[in-house]
Amino acid sequence: MKALVLSGGAGTRLRPFSYSMPKQLIPIANKPVLEYVVENLREIGVTEIGIIVGDRAHEISDVLGDGSALGVAITYIPQDAPLGLAHCVKIARPFLGDDDFVMYLGDNMLVEGISEIADEFAAVRPSAQVVVYKVPDPRAFGVAEVDENSRVTRLVEKPQEPRSDLAMIGVYFFTPRIHEAVDAIEPSWRGELEITDALQWLVTHDRDVRARIYSGFWKDTGKVEDVLECNREVLQRMRTDVQGIVDEESTLIGEVVVEEGARVVRSCIVGPAIIGAGTLVEESIVGPYTAIGADCRITESGVSDSIVLSGAFVHNVSGIETSLIGRKARVGSAKQHRLVVGDDAHVEVAA
Ligand code: DAU
Repeated sequence: MKALVLSGGAGTRLRPFSYSMPKQLIPIANKPVLEYVVENLREIGVTEIGIIVGDRAHEISDVLGDGSALGVAITYIPQDAPLGLAHCVKIARPFLGDDDFVMYLGDNMLVEGISEIADEFAAVRPSAQVVVYKVPDPRAFGVAEVDENSRVTRLVEKPQEPRSDLAMIGVYFFTPRIHEAVDAIEPSWRGELEITDALQWLVTHDRDVRARIYSGFWKDTGKVEDVLECNREVLQRMRTDVQGIVDEESTLIGEVVVEEGARVVRSCIVGPAIIGAGTLVEESIVGPYTAIGADCRITESGVSDSIVLSGAFVHNVSGIETSLIGRKARVGSAKQHRLVVGDDAHVEVAA
């Protein structure tokens, strides 16, 4: 089996971050989402991975390289424009050949892995197997209607009036039968070749399409609040590991990771939290639920329930909560609010 990971697309909901980095590289507990994706694939024994990339191809290849550091072999497949999930399958055909494959959206986090679903697909081998998750409002997703035997009877992409609460999440197992369906469908009202339409084509033509409810934690990391929620979940699963230096005047409470070369000086770190390699935390309180990236400086400040990306500098600001601070950003204090805020940024100051 091969894998096709989708990492093109625009990422408009994650602006301003997606102006400077592909959304699939946003770090969750200091590791890019795409690395979790590759690890989940390797865990089910898939090592031949095709990655669909758009304008940001070089940034993704800078991080993942040829995959050898992660124990896989990566082939990059360029997509000129985000013309849809089924379009990705079409352009990947030379890579996929006639193998079964798992398609994985590069911005989706399935924290407990995908082995159970992979085992079920291998045992039953339907034409396609989708993974679903019960959500309170499925209108932003592809929605599946499923019978009592786990057979999919109908699928609709982002319906205004959903007839089920089962959202399709970003992992799909396919036999080569999907290619016939992809070739048969037309672009949707939004101009995309929808994988949901290709799946519906299979259902209409009496092919076996199955659904399985994911029992672990899942998030599409398309929005800031979802990125933060995911960060909380992943941090909660980490165990204390101190490689850096924590001075005698500092305290670590709960599960705390201090990466190599990090220094914690006269500070308190409340876990779950991770302090990235080469970062200095001085006279500050960090955590809980906080990931500080590599080479940051957090001084005389308080940061909780947040993600701080590499190289950021936070000085003399307390009460930073549920925040996402970008690479090399500077956050400081002044008597007035002095703001240099980029396009589409989001700032809330204490009243
Ligand atoms: O997250 C689950 C949802 O993902 C499903 O419920 C929907 O059925 C499915 O269509 C998809 O919806 P989104 O609107 O969230 O898709 P998005 O445009 O965010 O694209 C998903 C991933 O695929 C993302 O990593 C970008 C990549 N992509 C997307 C398109 C449209 C590509 O690589 N090429 C593309 O042409």
